[in-house]
Amino acid sequence: MEYNIADPSLANSGYRKIEWAYNYMPVLGSLKNIHGREMPFAGERIAACLHLEAKTACLLLIFKELGAHVAAAGSNPLSTQDDVCAALVDRDIHVFSKRGMTSAEYSENLDHLVKFDPTIVIDDGADLIALIHEKYPECISRIKGACEETTSGIKRLKAMSSDGVLGFPVVAVNDAKSKYLFDNRYGTGQSVMDGIMRSTNVLMAGKNLVVIGYGWCGRGVAMRAAAMGSHVMVVEVDPHRAFEALMDGYEVMSMSEAAGKGDIFLTLTGNTNVIRKEHFEKMRDGVLLGNAGHFDVEINKTHLRDLASEALSVRDNIECYIMEDGRKLNLLSDGRLVNLAAGDGHPIEIMDLSFGIQLLSALYIAKNHLSLGQDVLTLPDDLDRQIMKIKLSSMGIELDTMTPEQEEYMKAWKE
Ligand code: ADE
Repeated sequence: MEYNIADPSLANSGYRKIEWAYNYMPVLGSLKNIHGREMPFAGERIAACLHLEAKTACLLLIFKELGAHVAAAGSNPLSTQDDVCAALVDRDIHVFSKRGMTSAEYSENLDHLVKFDPTIVIDDGADLIALIHEKYPECISRIKGACEETTSGIKRLKAMSSDGVLGFPVVAVNDAKSKYLFDNRYGTGQSVMDGIMRSTNVLMAGKNLVVIGYGWCGRGVAMRAAAMGSHVMVVEVDPHRAFEALMDGYEVMSMSEAAGKGDIFLTLTGNTNVIRKEHFEKMRDGVLLGNAGHFDVEINKTHLRDLASEALSVRDNIECYIMEDGRKLNLLSDGRLVNLAAGDGHPIEIMDLSFGIQLLSALYIAKNHLSLGQDVLTLPDDLDRQIMKIKLSSMGIELDTMTPEQEEYMKAWKE
């Protein structure tokens, strides 16, 4: 049994977190019951690069209960919870991750996942899939396919596909409606607020909060921040999204204008160098800088360090950069996902949907890989709808149905 974790003796604390989460995951529980008898992953080796916290552990344990051998590594150095990893190792899952690991350790842990010789890959950000293609191309032919969780990962995979290098099918989990409409919007909306509040303990009401990027995640954060009384300002490069933000009631402006006005800045663009030198130079004393995009490239940390005369660790998850003129700029979670590094990630009930889609996507790959081709694909709509139906029924909510007359009417084109 191979593993590389911080402390195996933390398993009990990890189990308590996992049991708590599982109570709020009816979709995963139902899928386990529906597929339990057939053991659909018997013989499969699943390697997962995910945020290793309690909800993820529930998914990994179900993969195992459905017959798979499972190995996992953290998809971000600060989102790994060491006690959860200890519980997973105790349940014979090969885990390679520690909170606070260096970039070199992060890469070594991904190497371990490749050496585990997976038949199915589960990724969050596409680092594992990219690594396999760049460094271990000899493994590609043994992999039936992969699932990718995030918008950022899918962007990379589509680039691989258009370069003609993608070697197996990948299900774009993020593109399922039961994922992006809820995880990206309500999940990020709540978990980002939670991460900021836990790490800073400041009041959200009355703050000028700048949301940079008005995709589904940005929309969610803007909505929750406004509901808490923040004055929301949106920065966008896309005209439709900018106009939508305006119609939703927010101020819309350029980054260079927002830089001098905001109290709290949140990047959710999936792009690089979004807040940089010229913006730091204009910022007010005491601002908070947080990122909720997958990679820690949105806030330029090199520029921040170069401009600062001193940097102090002022509280867990907060580094205060003191500028030459005395202004203090506070960076949350080292510019890494603030909701996962300073909190527990998205609420459990939301990840129940996202991981339900992950599970169905992995099943889809296991069953259909021979006919899928080497491309990025979306889960068929009936599977996407199945997740929503299980969720609604677990909440005791019934759907209405069309009458036969209504069904006919919807299909007809004549008056
Ligand atoms: N918890 C586990 N995975 C997560 C993700 N991708 N986003 C937010 N919270 C999570």
